[in-house]
Amino acid sequence: MTKQMLDKQPREVSSKKTKSKSLPPAIQVESLSKSFGEQTVLKRISLEITQGETLAVLGRSGTGKSVLLKLIIGLHKPDAGSIRVNGAEVTNLPPKELNEVRKKVGFLFQQAALYDSLTVEENVAFPLRRHSKMSDGERNKRVHDLLASVGMDQDAHKLPAQLSGGMQKRVGLARALALDPEILLFDEPTAGLDPITAAETDDLILRLQKERHLASVVVTHDIHGARAVSDRLALLRDGEILIEGTFEDLRKSRDPFVVQFLNGS
Ligand SMILES: Nc1ncnc2c1ncn2[C@@H]1O[C@H](COP(=O)(O)OP(=O)(O)OP(=O)(O)O)[C@@H](O)[C@H]1O
Ligand SMILES: [Mg+2]
Repeated sequence: MTKQMLDKQPREVSSKKTKSKSLPPAIQVESLSKSFGEQTVLKRISLEITQGETLAVLGRSGTGKSVLLKLIIGLHKPDAGSIRVNGAEVTNLPPKELNEVRKKVGFLFQQAALYDSLTVEENVAFPLRRHSKMSDGERNKRVHDLLASVGMDQDAHKLPAQLSGGMQKRVGLARALALDPEILLFDEPTAGLDPITAAETDDLILRLQKERHLASVVVTHDIHGARAVSDRLALLRDGEILIEGTFEDLRKSRDPFVVQFLNGS
């Protein structure tokens, strides 16, 4: 291993990560920049998520957290920089190959983004119809297993408008898991939920990570949730990563913004 590669090893290596040492990072973002017109949103961001690891991304509203996730799955094109998913560069991929990458990456959108006119089960079946060659019977079984895993199998025939916000998020999560992704991107999975439902959602995320050894990025405003579900945290400010490390690392920081963010004041 070259010195350069060694330098890129994450600082925190827990036992669950050492297993995957020889694999490329699940996600590797390097010098990523994105502007919309005159507005620069992300300035040369670099981040790495190892296999099986969960990174929480924190930051104030409008700092580019959702934009970062959308760049990773190719919904936005970066102005500069590189994004590798399991070692393969995904910026500037032709649509067909980008589709292949997207199958490996589940995305839970900030607004659950369910199809209004489709029932719960049809929403979860959607990616399976589109990307898999399952028979109707196999697909139905898969959909109901997924709904059961998020506690929504009783509501399979409801329309999204008949669900609460938390229920919609759980259906969004079942849909994000449909193609058995290796990587999951969560955009504010607990925003707008009551504290008990939020804690249940965090538990669900933790359980999925344990059972499936997924790598994930969780964007959140909720510092307690971030601490509960993540191995490491990154705090964005003005389009840059102000600090990155474990919760303890962040707590040791004397930077007034970090202190203020952790205290929620
Ligand atoms: N498609 C777009 N076109 C133009 N500007 C955009 C677009 N998407 C995002 N932006 C701008 O980029 C900035 C970052 O947006 P983003 O949605 O990533 O914020 P965020 O950190 O996710 O905020 P929040 O915590 O409120 O969800 C905002 O100023 C937003 O207006
Ligand atoms: Mg957002």
